[in-house]
Amino acid sequence: MVVLGSITCTAPVNIATIKYWGKRDENLILPLNSSLSGTLHQDDLKTTTSIVANDEFTEDALWLNGVKEDISAVRYQNVLKAIRDRATKLQDKPHHVHIVSVNNFPTAAGLASSASGYCCLVYTLAQLYGVEGDVSSIARLGSGSACRSMFGGFVKWEMGTKEDGSDSIAVQVQPESHWPEMNIIVLVVNDKKKETSSTAGMQQSAQTSPMMKERCATTVPQRMKDIEEAIKSRDFEVFGDITMKDSNDFHEVCATTTPPIYYLNDTSRYIINLVEKYNTVSGNIKCAYTFDAGPNACIYLPEQNVTEFLALVLKHFPTGDQTNYYRGPNKYLQQSQSYQE
Ligand code: ADP
Ligand code: DP6
Ligand code: CO
Repeated sequence: MVVLGSITCTAPVNIATIKYWGKRDENLILPLNSSLSGTLHQDDLKTTTSIVANDEFTEDALWLNGVKEDISAVRYQNVLKAIRDRATKLQDKPHHVHIVSVNNFPTAAGLASSASGYCCLVYTLAQLYGVEGDVSSIARLGSGSACRSMFGGFVKWEMGTKEDGSDSIAVQVQPESHWPEMNIIVLVVNDKKKETSSTAGMQQSAQTSPMMKERCATTVPQRMKDIEEAIKSRDFEVFGDITMKDSNDFHEVCATTTPPIYYLNDTSRYIINLVEKYNTVSGNIKCAYTFDAGPNACIYLPEQNVTEFLALVLKHFPTGDQTNYYRGPNKYLQQSQSYQE
């Protein structure tokens, strides 16, 4: 038995401020709109993936959080094939791979596990197989949001126009060092698996929500420009305003889908009101909420407001049984991945 290669990598979650919702190509995972996110710090919400290549394994296999997955699923196969097509190592040695992946936060609960999960899978495979150059478009084949976790700081996923998807890639808008005061606090409202996956939800919305057309044609393109400008000038007032508006619009799209999809619950709405009131009383935007396809809140805020905001959360959720919070070190938006052999 010969171990031909083995490697472990980690990749962080990213939290979108302009949401990706809807595909124009299901197989290549090409989106109906561009999107933009911040990448979390490696030490917080992250995936760790180990891969071993061996000449005596009889099949490729993958375990996610200790449970064997069906690796014949089309997304896993697309990712493996795309990596092997670009391999500079191992291609002349018959082998299979065993993959073990663990998320240190709730999986499929609306905290972007598919983003860190597929980013980490592709990044680790790319190291193992010696794939050079941009691999965000391969991560995209696993889960759209995964392409944005390839970079740290603020990252946009350009929807692209080409049919083959070659220009539908992630691009770093600003590095982590650009806005070091920016923090993200994740309030875990419910860690259970959501009823409607992002993939299924966005399919239904694209087909039935009357809001989709205008969102993709005008609202999102304008917001992408405005938020990039706000990030560039570190204008939290504008950044926060756009972030909350896009989160609210995204959940409105879900609510106007047939049948309606409701990802938020009463606790999520309580948090929305709490943030809105806090900002109103303060006379400016001190923090901004955003919710992915799930009830859990992600709060963007500058470092100087963290203590005050956490005090507010503890006051309203004193027993901590409704929300737990994750919070990393002071500088949140940092490097997107590291690996050790
Ligand atoms: P989330 O809101 O957590 O991103 P999704 O519905 O988008 O939820 O995707 C969840 C799915 O992503 C999981 O059911 C699994 O198929 C995939 N996934 C999550 N974590 C990993 C991982 N570490 N490695 C591979 N696939 C993963
Ligand atoms: C609400 O990337 O999970 O989090 O491409 O089908 O895997 P698939 O969907 P996924 O969708 C993410 C939706 C979102 C918004 C976002 O992250 O931009
Ligand atoms: Co996802």
